[in-house]
Amino acid sequence: MAKIVGTVTTSHIPAIGRAIAKNLQTDPYWKPFFGGFEAVHGWLAKVKPDVAVVIYNDHGLNFFLDKMPTFAVGAAREYVNADEGWGIPSLTPFRGDPDLSWHIIESLIDAEFDITSCQEMFVDHGFALPMALLWPGGAGWPVTTVPISVNTVQHPLPSPKRCYKLGRALGQAIGSYDEDLRVVVIGTGGLSHQLDGTRAGFINKPFDLMCMDKIVAEPEALTRYTIPELVEQAGAQGVELVNWIIARGVLDDRVEKVHSNYHIPISNTAAGLLVLESRA
Ligand code: DHB
Ligand code: FE
Repeated sequence: MAKIVGTVTTSHIPAIGRAIAKNLQTDPYWKPFFGGFEAVHGWLAKVKPDVAVVIYNDHGLNFFLDKMPTFAVGAAREYVNADEGWGIPSLTPFRGDPDLSWHIIESLIDAEFDITSCQEMFVDHGFALPMALLWPGGAGWPVTTVPISVNTVQHPLPSPKRCYKLGRALGQAIGSYDEDLRVVVIGTGGLSHQLDGTRAGFINKPFDLMCMDKIVAEPEALTRYTIPELVEQAGAQGVELVNWIIARGVLDDRVEKVHSNYHIPISNTAAGLLVLESRA
C-alpha cells in the first residue's frame, strides 16, 4: 500500500524563482530563507518519496475568475509550468501519476468532496517553486506529482474546517492506494501576507508563530477560524494557510516535528517552513 512519509509545508513567492535563476541563495537577503531548506533536503534523502501530492492554489494561470473550482485534482501524464507574467523562468514539466490521481479523485468523491478532475493542467509558482526548493539543481524531478489546487482567490473560499476534513479524506485516499509508493504531501502558500489594498505589506508574526505551533499538536484550533477572521489575522492572501491545514489533515493526530523555519519578509510575505511526520 502507499505510505505517507510526511508533509512539507512552505510559502510560495514568485521572487524565489528569480533568486534561484540568479543563484542568490547565499545572498544575505536570501540565506535565512534558502538555508532553511538544507535540513529538508537531508530529510527527503532519508524518506525517499516516489510521489509528491502538492496542495497549492492557482493564481490565475490555469483557473481564472470566470471558472474557479473550489478543489481541483490533476489527472494528467504531465504538468507544464508556464509564464504567469512575473518574468521568472518556467521550470521543466512535472511527471504525473494518472492512476494515483484517479484513485484520489474517486476516493474524495466517495467521501462527498465534489472534485473538479483536470486531465490538462498548467501549474503556476504555487506548485512549481516549492518543488524547486525541495529538489534544487534543475537535474529533473525525482518524483511524480499529483497537483491539488484549492480556491484561495475568489470568495466564497472553503473554510479551514472543510479543508481539514479534505486533508483527512486525502490521507485515507492515499493510504488505500494499492501500490508500494512512498508519498510526500506538500502544502504551499502563506503565511501572513497581503498584496493589495490599504493593508498591502501586512504581516502578523505572532499569528504566524501561533499557527506553526498549533498545527503540530492541535490543528483543530486552526479550524475554528472563519475565512473573514483569517483574512483579518493573516491578510487577504494569508488565507493560503488553508493549504497547510489540508496537508496537516493527511497525518495522524500525533505527529513529530522534524524541522521548521520562519523568516520575514520575503517579498511581501512571511515565509514559513514546516516538516512533519506521523508518530505511529
Ligand atoms: C507574493 C506572495 C504570494 O503568495 C504570491 O502568490 C505572489 C506574490 C509576494 O509576497 O510577492
Ligand atoms: Fe500565493
